[in-house]
Amino acid sequence: MWNLENKTAVVTGGTKGIGRATVLELLALGAKIIFSARNASEVAKFESELKKNGHQAFGIVSDVSTRKGREAIVSEVQKRFTQLDILVNNAGINIRKKAHDYSEEEYQKIISINQTAPFLLSRDLFSFLKASENASIINVASVAATLDVGTGSPYAMSKAALVMQTKNLAVEWAKDGIRVNAVSPWFTKTPLTDGLLQQKERMEPVLDHTPLARVAEASEMANVIAFLAMDKSSYVTGQNVIVDGGVGLSAL
Ligand SMILES: NC(=O)c1ccc[n+]([C@@H]2O[C@H](COP(=O)([O-])OP(=O)(O)OC[C@H]3O[C@@H](n4cnc5c(N)ncnc54)[C@H](OP(=O)(O)O)[C@@H]3O)[C@@H](O)[C@H]2O)c1
Repeated sequence: MWNLENKTAVVTGGTKGIGRATVLELLALGAKIIFSARNASEVAKFESELKKNGHQAFGIVSDVSTRKGREAIVSEVQKRFTQLDILVNNAGINIRKKAHDYSEEEYQKIISINQTAPFLLSRDLFSFLKASENASIINVASVAATLDVGTGSPYAMSKAALVMQTKNLAVEWAKDGIRVNAVSPWFTKTPLTDGLLQQKERMEPVLDHTPLARVAEASEMANVIAFLAMDKSSYVTGQNVIVDGGVGLSAL
């Protein structure tokens, strides 16, 4: 069916941008959701808005780059659900610099949130995903995983590793009834890119090279994530779905 009724989901980084749009889309399709982020007041505010609208959404304050943060998500899943059908590893950050300007701490921060956390959280939630017998993990990667788009090396490296993580886990966990796919956005209107999208001189060449000649809305990423979460995509696994307005098609 084209819905997510009776499905349970976890969305990391669910208060803003692509994560928030994903929470709204999955709820609209009938899923029950646990979403996480670090900012407690934003988590509480979004949860209360969703509850007011009659949704089954549970917010949790959690930094996915810490063991404590991931344990908090696992405990919440244990408390609310008996199995987990959908895991969206969406939380991600970037610090945009020239390679020689990164401190070791900045490098480690990007890698730990974007690359290590999706692996460890998938591992920590494996038994709940396996219990579903029909689960779907969606990792939010980036066009930067496959092309140099000026994001800075650590971000591109972290997203490339996430795509390879997607392929490996798809093969390893197929027998456990878990599909694993990635979605790779191009420029999308979110708080993460807000400053950048205001820079006309930076954005003009981007739009010139994007066949659809615009940046994406967060909901356009959420729609693809929702499809991969659904049983309608039951034969799709190990794929990196590039949602880029066509930018990767031409070198000119
Ligand atoms: N926007 C784009 O153009 C674009 C393009 C390609 C890929 N992406 C990828 O898409 C994903 C979402 O990006 P976005 O643009 O929607 O970002 P965003 O607007 O900055 O939102 C990020 C969300 O993740 C949360 N978050 C950040 N670090 C976290 C952590 N350590 N633990 C838990 N939650 C955390 C944030 O809340 P708190 O700060 O409260 O934790 C927020 O809810 C990222 O993986 C990003 O790399 C985005």
